[in-house]
Amino acid sequence: MRILIVYMTHHGTTEKVVEKLMELMGKSVTDVVNLEHDSIPDLSRYGTIIIGGSIHVGQIQLGIKQFCRDYKQELLNKKLGLFICYMNKEQGMQEFENAFPGELRSHARAAGLFGGEFLFEKMNFMERFIIRMVANEKKSRSAINYPAIAKFAASFVV
Ligand SMILES: Cc1cc2nc3c(=O)[nH]c(=O)nc-3n(C[C@H](O)[C@H](O)[C@H](O)COP(=O)(O)O)c2cc1C
Repeated sequence: MRILIVYMTHHGTTEKVVEKLMELMGKSVTDVVNLEHDSIPDLSRYGTIIIGGSIHVGQIQLGIKQFCRDYKQELLNKKLGLFICYMNKEQGMQEFENAFPGELRSHARAAGLFGGEFLFEKMNFMERFIIRMVANEKKSRSAINYPAIAKFAASFVV
């Protein structure tokens, strides 16, 4: 059966991660839905569903939370993978737990904490201010954990 990846992104890092996952899991068997502008397909066509988003001010995108709430029963009958992109190393596990409901986390075959990027050129004035003041970061920086992505993808290859 096919694989569906459902995601949201602010500055494109989660999309980059999704492209890597597609490459690893097989582009020809994988469909992708960005909840910001794509409609949700019939989930019965998929045996595996991966859901991911990014953490901003402690929270994953509301659309991801809503999708998990609305489709919880269907998701509990799939091979499920959940992941976040984030930059606060100390808070990663806490942010992951806060991002997805406990039932889905317990059911998931893989949990991905994939790191992320600070992309100052894509931030607005307020975002730059927050990152400079709160995270004490001054320059764009990439810290995507590619080995973690590969390990996550491998757990769906039977
Ligand atoms: C305004 C802003 C707030 C952020 N807040 C958090 C946060 O609370 N915790 C965290 O771990 N990372 C935080 N990040 C880092 C993002 O999770 C990281 O930049 C991620 O790669 C963004 O992915 P995206 O481009 O797919 O949205 C923040 C980034 C920005 C720009």
